[in-house]
Amino acid sequence: MSSKKIVVIPGDGIGPEVTAAAQEILDLAARKAGLALEYTTRLAGGAAIDARGVPLPDETLAAAKTADAVLLGAVGGPKWDSVAPDIRPEKAILGLRKALGLYANLRPVKVSAALAAYSPLKPEIVAGTDILIVRELTGGIYFGPKCESETVDGAERAWDTEVYSVPEVARIVRMACQAAKGRRGKVTSVDKANVLASSRLWRRVATATAQEAGVDIAHMYVDNCAMQLVLGPKTFDVIVTGNLFGDILSDEAAVVAGSIGLLPSASIGDGPGLYEPIHGSAPDIAGQGIANPVGTVLSAAMLLRHSLKAEAPAAAIEQAVDAVLAAGYRTADLYRPGLTKVSTEEMAKLIIKQL
Ligand code: IPM
Ligand code: MN
Repeated sequence: MSSKKIVVIPGDGIGPEVTAAAQEILDLAARKAGLALEYTTRLAGGAAIDARGVPLPDETLAAAKTADAVLLGAVGGPKWDSVAPDIRPEKAILGLRKALGLYANLRPVKVSAALAAYSPLKPEIVAGTDILIVRELTGGIYFGPKCESETVDGAERAWDTEVYSVPEVARIVRMACQAAKGRRGKVTSVDKANVLASSRLWRRVATATAQEAGVDIAHMYVDNCAMQLVLGPKTFDVIVTGNLFGDILSDEAAVVAGSIGLLPSASIGDGPGLYEPIHGSAPDIAGQGIANPVGTVLSAAMLLRHSLKAEAPAAAIEQAVDAVLAAGYRTADLYRPGLTKVSTEEMAKLIIKQL
């Protein structure tokens, strides 16, 4: 049995706590499925700035490139807020995405019965929500030409550029269509085609790509989509959109689902996939052992499913998490009177017991 290579990047803030919990669960689920995993831990983000002076050291990138998959916690924190823009902790994530060709970010947002009550929206509006956000991840305004500062007519200014090419749009929409075929078959492409040229190209290519794939596609402006997500989240199946719109809408969808602490993500493309919770490094609660590990644990399940093609242990982890939440165990972020409050480690142990 050949073992698969997993690079673990704990990062900053609560990153080390949640990745430790997720690694333990990943390892058990994989072993039970007869899959041997081999782990290497590497630095990135603020931790790497402190130790090496750069957010994404060469040895981290090299390890990631030769891995079968990467599991990441979170990067960043107030400690590094004033470092130079080109070595900010976030550059580690952006650099990994670009270098690994991770052009697709999958963010599933599912509202389980146990959690409908946590949504700021009325339970009857959110119950049954099941959305997959497919966010383009290596293009758009995140990676277009930019200028940090220049002076024109005596005024300092800065600018970024939104650029999308036909192949970039076609491949992400193709992935969204493929995902929709295994779901309810409906893709909503989100843009701002009433204003942006890049969005008009996006809409044209999305229409043609979906037609080729034989999938139903609807188009929606991003401002309207932001509104529809709170008015009727249930009406969405797969949402496909560009890098910046996807960043914003996925946070909105996460909070509609009740907690950003629960949601996983998978970044996939040509090489090894990268798996991370969608929450950040939460420096305010770091080191206290109270962070919610579920987003990272579910990211590990996505790692098994997408990178290791191991559906059984992926589903086993998801079922174990559902069972523990249904039994009323909650980390501090989701605790309410009448339920049982547990630490990060206790939550992990409960999931392990279920497995
Ligand atoms: C995310 C994060 C990142 C992004 C940051 C940390 C660069 O917000 O994964 O959504 O904007 O893509
Ligand atoms: Mn984000």
